[in-house]
Amino acid sequence: MPNIMVLNGPNLNMLGLRQPDIYGRTTLADVHAMVENEALALGCSVDFRQSNHEGVLIDWIHEARTRADAIVINPGGLTHTSVALMDALSAAEKPVVEIHLSNVHRREPFRHHSYVSLVATGVICGFGAHGYVLALRAAHDLLSRSPAVARDQ
Ligand code: DQA
Repeated sequence: MPNIMVLNGPNLNMLGLRQPDIYGRTTLADVHAMVENEALALGCSVDFRQSNHEGVLIDWIHEARTRADAIVINPGGLTHTSVALMDALSAAEKPVVEIHLSNVHRREPFRHHSYVSLVATGVICGFGAHGYVLALRAAHDLLSRSPAVARDQ
C-alpha cells in the first residue's frame, strides 16, 4: 500500500481561526479527517503532519525519502521564501504535489512566486480544504504510473 506524506507548514495549525474569509472555517483536524477518509477510499496510507518550523519540515522531507512514496505539501508562507525547503523537496526524489487553500495568484504579488513550484510535480490552489482531497488523489494517481514518469512529469 503506498504511503503519502502530507505536510503542513507555518500557521496552518490556526486553520479555522485564522482569516476565515480567506482560508475558511475548516480546522486542520477536519482536513486531516478528510484526507484519512480519502486515503481509505483510494487504498493508501497517509502520514499527516504540521510544523511551524522550517528545519522540522526539512527533517520530515528527508525522512520521506525512505518512509513515503509521495509528498503532498502546503508550505504556508515558506512557499514564497524558502530555498532550503525547495532543495529538500528536490533531494527527496519523490512526486511532490503542492497545495494551497487559497488561490495565491489572486492575492498579493509576493504570493505569486513559489520556490516549491520549481520542484513540484504539480500544484493545486484555490479550492479550500477540498484541495487536500484533490492533492491526495493527484499524488495517488502519479504513483499508479511508473516511478520515473511520476517524478519527472
Ligand atoms: C497558503 C498561502 C500562503 O501564501 C500563506 O502564507 C499560507 C497559506 C494557502 O494555503 O493558501 O500560510 O499556503
